[in-house]
Amino acid sequence: MEIRPRRLRENAAVRGMARETRLSPKSLIYPLFLEEGGGKEPIPSLDGQFRYGPDRAAEAVERALACGVDKFLLFGIPKEKDPLGSGAYAGNGVVQQGLRALRARYPEILLVTDVCMCEYTSHGHCGILSGREVDNDATLPYLARTALSHAQAGADIVAPSDMMDGRVAAIRKMLDENGFSRVSILSYAVKYASSFYGPFREAAGSAPGFGDRRGYQMDYHNKKEALREAALDEAEGADMLMVKPAMSYLDIVRAVAERTNLPLAAYSVSGEYAMIKAAGRLGLADEYGLMCESAVSVFRAGAGILISYFAPEIAKAIQKGDIG
Ligand code: PBG
Repeated sequence: MEIRPRRLRENAAVRGMARETRLSPKSLIYPLFLEEGGGKEPIPSLDGQFRYGPDRAAEAVERALACGVDKFLLFGIPKEKDPLGSGAYAGNGVVQQGLRALRARYPEILLVTDVCMCEYTSHGHCGILSGREVDNDATLPYLARTALSHAQAGADIVAPSDMMDGRVAAIRKMLDENGFSRVSILSYAVKYASSFYGPFREAAGSAPGFGDRRGYQMDYHNKKEALREAALDEAEGADMLMVKPAMSYLDIVRAVAERTNLPLAAYSVSGEYAMIKAAGRLGLADEYGLMCESAVSVFRAGAGILISYFAPEIAKAIQKGDIG
């Protein structure tokens, strides 16, 4: 008897059949930046991505739909920022405008919104300040109000990314009390304080004006803390959990996946995208190959949903049969 694992690799059809990880365009979410005003502006830190006015966001949706991606994560970039981040929960805020426009035109797509204060506050922190510290409990009503305004404008899922304790419960209560019990919460349950968010902060103009986010985002030395965060958000009523970033945190994805019965998403963040783009541009590595390999790794680690700036390209790779 000759035992030869290679037999499974030599024949392309067998190799395809024997794949242990399957991907579908249905499992992908594409982040979009909506900028108050109009137009379409390239984002220098995220080569190939744009800031869209609410009137132009349909262009990005069309391109994604053509590849089979029908789920979107919306971020807002307001014209004016203030200490209380009032643009986040303004009835006619930029995300709310975008939601209404997209919902009217595409009733069938899935719209997820990022719920946070940092793009809207003049100080750039994810919550309301008390002195120079973010005041956790004072922030909760603002987050709940933001989530409600997104639900009212047509969001299917709200995704709080602020990392305040207790926000899932506060948002759930607010949604339920106002007749939005069908709106789900995808909690950024496990969000590390990460340098991988650098390009996003340039894209959204949301870098903190002073200090950093280590008072509320997690320390990347910790894994048990991730499990605790995930369990707490689940207990507070989260419908889905997220781990973020993805690359460098696949052990965390695996650990959370093994312990939760909720759907688990991983967010392959701006720095991951920018690194792959830069490596490709400099001729150091094959951009397409890096994209495919990193996308598959997230699912292999145990996530069922991937949020990625490459979502349309990953969907094309799946349809070609290069992955999945
Ligand atoms: C906060 C938020 C951030 C990202 C998603 N939601 C930025 C931060 O925490 O500083 C980062 C996403 C990315 O880097 O792609 N609203």
